This record gives sequence, structure tokens and C-alpha cells, in this order.
Amino acid sequence: MPDTTPIRILIADDQQDIIDALRLLLLDEGYEVTPARSPGEALERLEASDFDLALLDLNYTRDTTSGQEGFDLMERLRALDPTLPVLVMTAWSSVAGAVEAMRRGARDYIEKPWDDERLLVAVRTQIELRRAVRRSQRLQEANSRLQRGATPAFIGTAAAIVETRQTIERIAPSDASVLITGEHGTGKEVVAAWVHALSDRRGRPLITMNAGGLAEGIAESELFGHVKGAFTDARVDRIGCFEMADEGTLFLDEIANMPMRLQAKLLRVLQTGEMARVGSSRVRYVNVRVISATNADLPTEIAAGRFREDLLYRLNTVVIHLPPLRERRSDIEALARHFLGIYAARYRKPITTFDADAMAAMQAHGWPGNVRELAHAVERAVLMAETAAVSIAARHLSLRAKAGGEAAAPEDLSLEDAERVFIEKVLARHGGDVRLAAEQLGMSRSALYRRLQQYGVRE
Ligand SMILES: Nc1ncnc2c1ncn2[C@@H]1O[C@H](COP(=O)(O)OP(=O)(O)OP(=O)(O)O)[C@@H](O)[C@H]1O
Ligand SMILES: [Mg+2]
Repeated sequence: MPDTTPIRILIADDQQDIIDALRLLLLDEGYEVTPARSPGEALERLEASDFDLALLDLNYTRDTTSGQEGFDLMERLRALDPTLPVLVMTAWSSVAGAVEAMRRGARDYIEKPWDDERLLVAVRTQIELRRAVRRSQRLQEANSRLQRGATPAFIGTAAAIVETRQTIERIAPSDASVLITGEHGTGKEVVAAWVHALSDRRGRPLITMNAGGLAEGIAESELFGHVKGAFTDARVDRIGCFEMADEGTLFLDEIANMPMRLQAKLLRVLQTGEMARVGSSRVRYVNVRVISATNADLPTEIAAGRFREDLLYRLNTVVIHLPPLRERRSDIEALARHFLGIYAARYRKPITTFDADAMAAMQAHGWPGNVRELAHAVERAVLMAETAAVSIAARHLSLRAKAGGEAAAPEDLSLEDAERVFIEKVLARHGGDVRLAAEQLGMSRSALYRRLQQYGVRE
């Protein structure tokens, strides 16, 4: 993805020497210039792609004095893109013309022959204003998706976690794509938040999109936005995650579940930095750092024809793998204490610690739902504990499915508990992959999700 988005200026003038002079001046300042020699050509250019500013001549040869053609063009350009700043130029100096141009929406007015310095100042000012307007619009729309409050805690001293923290510090400031892998509840979203927080994009939005939970058409419009009329329900223009995340970070969660067709579109945007809203062919430029996450094994998905290999190579410049909690048991205690602090405060209980039997039960548990399951177990225990309790006992935790050979025999359990134990085992065997577990259990993915939510294994 390009590092910086070029600033693009459209020049409409029917005199080649004027276009050449302006082009040289603007190119020198690092702008990208697109000339149009007629009003029709200017409209075509704007329909085809996004510009930061238009510089328009008010007088075309067919109609050299009234400026009517120039005014018409200006209005049509502004109808196409209401936020586009338009600077008008004219050879005749008339206050009336200037006033009329401003009344019709021009941002500034330049007389020919122009003064280079004054023209550049006008261009720079309008572009900065436009960027500020766009940024605030984007922030408004993005607000609902923004991570609220501080970056979440990332607890742990297990070797894998220490190493992960070092990797994050090292790679966060670059724009490298990051792929985070790991079972459900291992902290992938926490890592994504930290990569963003330690990057130079931290002042910009971090936008999260779940790539798997939506129907293909809806997912596409979530990702790229749509224009009014693009499909039956598209009553207004809508900005998508890519545009919301412009200059910031886009977190694509559950990337393995993204439909193939959408994978192709995503790949194209990542390769070119160009996108279009659904229902529009107008090219927009986005500057986005992509972080993605999955609990699936992408090489397996690729072999099965469900994931594009070329997309994987765009996403996995850096790979961060979070091991399951059962493989970093040394962190269970610190994590449990961390969650205890949070929930004791939230539910106003005087609990400050765990009994030895509670700690032993947590150490022995399999944690198929990983850190999230631990958080839920502690929350439940805090709620279950007697009002005056100052510590959590094993009975408050209700961790019935123990790891290894310690599990209670199925015939000692209620049907519900037996089902839970069984489902957790199947889930653990499939590395937390809900799709595979559901397949083996012969139930639908959504039914399995509901069960897991009941157990507090998933959110
Ligand atoms: N190392 C950690 N320190 C503190 N809290 C953590 C840690 N890892 C995970 N959590 C907490 O556990 C919960 C689950 O983490 P998170 O949502 O990041 O998991 P995930 O890997 O994205 O799961 P899923 O695949 O289900 O989306 C969150 O509340 C998160 O804040
Ligand atoms: Mg997640």
C-alpha cells in the first residue's frame, strides 16, 4: 500500500499554455496534476476518480465573456463531489464575476495572469481545509466503531507473550501488515489494539470489521461503502471501513471467513491503494494499515480452496501467533488476579484473592475458551461469592471440565454439564475452530456459538 496518498489536482482550461504553466508550477510542489481541456472532459475526470482540488477557468472559447459555461461546470462538479474545493481563474477582472463565482460555491478566485505565490497559498489552504473537513466527517462516522477508552491490558510473562510484546514494539511503527493467529479468546484483538497504539497512526482511527459474520453483499458494502441506489436498500451514500480507517488502521477479524469474491476485491485494494464504493466506478485513494486475525489455519484453508494464497502474502508480512492459555499456564495466576481486580471493583465485592483450591483448579483447567473463558470464570465467581467473602474458593469458579484424566465421569454429571464438557473437549481438539467442531458435533455453527456463549466460552 502506498505510504502517502498523492494530492491530486484537476485543472480545467482550454488553453494549452496555461495548463502547461500551471502543471509545472504544481508538479514542482509535489502535486499530481490532471488536465482537462473542456468542461465535458473535466466532468469525466471527476466522475472517474477522486480529486483534492479543482482549478477552473471561467472562460471557454465558445462563450468568452459571460463565464456562464465556467459557472455551469463548477456547479456540476460540486454536485458530483460537494466537498471538492474549487478555485476559479479568469482573465477579465471583474468584481461581479468574482462575487458570482463565490456565491456559486467557489472557494477562492484568481486573476490571470496569476501570481505564483498567491496561487500556491490558495491551493494549499483549500486542500488543508478539505482534509480537515473530511477527517471530521470520517471521525463522526467512525465513532461507533472506535475502540473506547485506553488500550486493553496485555498481561503475561510467559516467553511467548514477552516475545510478542517485543515484536509489537519493533514492528508497530512500520506500516507492515500484521496477521495475528491463535485460538478464540487468546488475545488477538488486544494485540491489534497495541500494534495500532504503538504506531504513528495512533491519533487516527482503528476500525474493526468482522470479515466473517456477514452475508457477502453486506460485507462488501461494510468494507468499501456504497452509493445511493447501489442496491435496493441503499437509500443514502454510506462510507465503508476502508474510508473510515484512512490514515489509520483497519483490523479485519476472522479473515479466514471472508467470502472468496470479497477476498479478490480486498487483494486489489491492498495492491493498488485504490478502491471504489459499491455501485460507483469512481476511484478513491486510501492509506490504510491492515491488521488481520484468524483462528483458522490459513495454509489448510488455502489447500481447501477457501482462501487466496496471494491474499495471505499481502496480509502476513509480520505474523504474531498467540499460544492457547493451556500452553502458558504460568500466566494463569497473573491473569486471574487482573480480572479479579476488575470484577471485584465492578460488582463492589471486598474480594482480593483466590483460595489455594481455586488457584489449583484454575491451573488444572483446560481453558478451551482461553483468556476470555478465564475472564468469564472469574467474573462468575465474583458474582457467586458470598457478600462478605474476601477470597474466591474453587466452588465459586464452577470449573467442572478438568484437564487430563481428572475429569469427572460423565455419569456423575447432569446432562447439561456432560454436554458442556463434551463440547469443550471437541472444541479443544479442533484447536478452538468452531466450524470444524460444529461439523464433528453435527450442529450448525450458530447453534454451537449459542452454546458457547451460554458457557461463557465465547462472547
Ligand atoms: N494477555 C492478556 N492480558 C489481559 N487481558 C487479556 C489478555 N489476552 C486476552 N485478554 C482479554 O481476554 C478477552 C479475549 O481477548 P480477545 O478478544 O483479544 O481475544 P481474541 O483472540 O480476539 O478472541 P476471538 O478469536 O474469539 O475474537 C478480552 O476481554 C481481552 O481483553
Ligand atoms: Mg477477536
